[in-house]
Amino acid sequence: MSLICGIETSCDETAAAVYDTKRGLLSNAVFSQIDQHKFFGGVVPEIASRSQLEKINPIVQASLDQAGVHLDNLDAIAVTTKPGLPGSLLIGVCFAKAIAWAKKKKLIGINHMEAHIFSVLLEHDVPFPFLCLTASGGHTSLYFVNGLGDYTLLGQTLDDAAGEAFDKIAKMLHLPYPGGPVIERLAGAAGFKDYFHYPRGRLASLDFSFSGLKTAVLYDLVKKDAYDMKAKQFTKNKDLRLKEQVSSSLLVCIADIFKQKLHQAYKENPQIKAITIVGGVACNKYIRSQVKQFCQSQRIQFFVPSPKFCTDNAAMVAFVGAYKYQKGEFADMYLDILD
Ligand code: KG4
Ligand code: ZN
Repeated sequence: MSLICGIETSCDETAAAVYDTKRGLLSNAVFSQIDQHKFFGGVVPEIASRSQLEKINPIVQASLDQAGVHLDNLDAIAVTTKPGLPGSLLIGVCFAKAIAWAKKKKLIGINHMEAHIFSVLLEHDVPFPFLCLTASGGHTSLYFVNGLGDYTLLGQTLDDAAGEAFDKIAKMLHLPYPGGPVIERLAGAAGFKDYFHYPRGRLASLDFSFSGLKTAVLYDLVKKDAYDMKAKQFTKNKDLRLKEQVSSSLLVCIADIFKQKLHQAYKENPQIKAITIVGGVACNKYIRSQVKQFCQSQRIQFFVPSPKFCTDNAAMVAFVGAYKYQKGEFADMYLDILD
């Protein structure tokens, strides 16, 4: 039995969790900074890192308390080292190094993307090899996953991430941050129909591009006399129906892009046994149901984590830490946010 404490501070969540290789996940503590960034319509790096500094100690303590363990009982500290906001990552990495040094514990560096990829295994027995689509505010990537810690990048976004597209278009429409959940709600009110047929993109590779979609929505709003380019303002603030229709068309468009890329990746990798979607955007019930329907039509298994394991969390970091611990993949005190 090994006890691993995972720490995640890559962006605007401060999270810590304890994973036991025998008993599974023992705790999962998260503090989300959403309220601090809402006013700005996106994450402000300076605010994010200051908040990480305030919360890291109480959140790590909360994860130990929830798990009913003490620092002395731990075998290793696993911490996200990249990718992410440097100021935020540094807080987690410095904190993890301090504990590991003071308590003579093993230290393990974790790639945030690897943690998202394997988050689905916290709850599901997914057969290898599988395809994994990670979609969040900072990343949209497609992976071929061969085994624990064994994965290959097939394609990724060349510009904005899918969640970023939701967040930026929500901002254009004067909707609150984060955009994904509110766009999902408004899209539901408009019946998840494709009113405006936004472009799906024509990239032949397995890469994604969402900045063109953002621009297409912007010009469509200008054409509808709903956006003043000079004042950078949505001019039909009270037109709820328009906001619902834009949200609905946008969500249908992004779900279509996901299905199309997954289909292409499946055709290129027919040996895969399952498809998974992870990351904050995978919380979206419409996207979940669309990808599920697609998988059923192809007779392929589909898995998605619970929402609490889709958005940034440390349970996934502790889980990856656990198999790296068993493989003996340790870092030393020179562990850096570039590693
Ligand atoms: O994984 P995450 O918590 O943080 C990052 O690593 O970025 O993802 C946050 C992103 C935001 O862009 C947010 O708009 C999006 O996930 N998101 C959603 C939903 N809930 C969160 N997007 C679409 N539908 C949702 N229900
Ligand atoms: Zn993430």
